[in-house]
Amino acid sequence: MQLAPAPQTAPKRLSILGATGSIGCSTLALVQEHPEQFCIEALTAQDNVDKLIEQAVTFRPALAVIGNEAHYQTLKDALSPYGITCAAGAEAICEAAQRPVDTVMMAIVGAVSLRPTFCAIEAGSSIAFASKECLVCAGELMMEACRKSGATLLPVDSEHNAIFQVFDFEQPDAIEKITLTASGGPFRSWTAEAMAKATPEQAVAHPNWSMGAKISVDSATMMNKALEVIEAYHLFPLRSEQIEVVVHPESIIHSFVHYRDGSVLAQLGMPDMRIPIAHTLSWPQRMKTQNPALSLTEMGALTFEAPDAERFPALRIVRDVLAAKPGAAIAFNAANEVAVEAFLAGTLPFGRIAPLVEAILPHYLDKSVSSLDEVVYLNDQARQEAKQHIHSSS
Ligand SMILES: NC(=O)c1ccc[n+]([C@@H]2O[C@H](COP(=O)([O-])OP(=O)(O)OC[C@H]3O[C@@H](n4cnc5c(N)ncnc54)[C@H](OP(=O)(O)O)[C@@H]3O)[C@@H](O)[C@H]2O)c1
Repeated sequence: MQLAPAPQTAPKRLSILGATGSIGCSTLALVQEHPEQFCIEALTAQDNVDKLIEQAVTFRPALAVIGNEAHYQTLKDALSPYGITCAAGAEAICEAAQRPVDTVMMAIVGAVSLRPTFCAIEAGSSIAFASKECLVCAGELMMEACRKSGATLLPVDSEHNAIFQVFDFEQPDAIEKITLTASGGPFRSWTAEAMAKATPEQAVAHPNWSMGAKISVDSATMMNKALEVIEAYHLFPLRSEQIEVVVHPESIIHSFVHYRDGSVLAQLGMPDMRIPIAHTLSWPQRMKTQNPALSLTEMGALTFEAPDAERFPALRIVRDVLAAKPGAAIAFNAANEVAVEAFLAGTLPFGRIAPLVEAILPHYLDKSVSSLDEVVYLNDQARQEAKQHIHSSS
């Protein structure tokens, strides 16, 4: 029998990158429940300087960083009286990621998380990892960098966190497949015609989860689940065909691992990101939280259905991406990021998000990458191409 690790007594030093976002705020809510267990080293944001100031005054990090340099003076004026060091710019965010801590919460949205993530990996930290776009773009390089530095990636995404909790890493050959569950998003029962005209307000109104705008739109297109298939492919020793998706509208079972003896293990919980975040913050222990408890009798029935790859083409396209060279995943993600930004800005209809991604992809199917710089270069190139495509077809 394996003995449980000794409980940690000293507070954990924690840096939160993307502190002002949905995941960042949920992380700080857990810290606030147990201030004696954590000591905040660094908080970062991009534009929301008011929220960053409010968080810094409450949690007193050693360092606060704002990505947008135009807000530096505001940040400094507000936080200097508290003795908090302030910095600004993308380079300063990377420096925050490199600070020696017990855990980095990586919650910056999009491929802009690439450089800070690699900095945190090189520092050998334990990384509570939410920024899925980074794994999608640079999965192989990231996992290799973790092996070299000894950094641990603890998946925050509820599905991958669920699998992490029930996956027998000592016997990967005993695993037949995994099933990622998907809520189906706000348009699960909409027709393709109705979806084509959906507004940003309708797309971000997720039935179960409260999340940032970008991931909410990704849930509506089911691009989120496609990105998660790639994320799972890199996090767990599995082939593409061993990763399946099932729609589970109640979002109670967060994923399944199927073993070759017929056993199927799953992790359950209410649809609240504070649950997987708490798991990553306290790993390998378990922290007491005020997170909502699951009542099976109140829940009643749990239902499942096959996903519809006709109405949600991202689920079909992702299989071509996984069969191609790594450049395909970079373009898949980059084109989607540009499409979602345009959709939220009202310049691209919902129904054109997936076709745009599919139009950009063919140029990247045979592109290999061997360094982070090459990933960043291809990401920039695919973003440019996607923007031109929107411009020329509008
Ligand atoms: N929300 C969820 O429930 C959930 C669940 C699973 C996985 N995830 C993943 O977690 C990540 C964060 O999602 P979220 O929903 O928390 O996003 P969000 O609410 O949009 O927050 C994004 C955070 O990133 C910062 N940021 C934006 N652009 C940046 C840039 N160029 N450089 C540095 N920082 C930047 C934002 O700062 P400002 O506030 O100053 O703009 C904010 O702190 C995403 O990859 C998402 O897919 C989220």
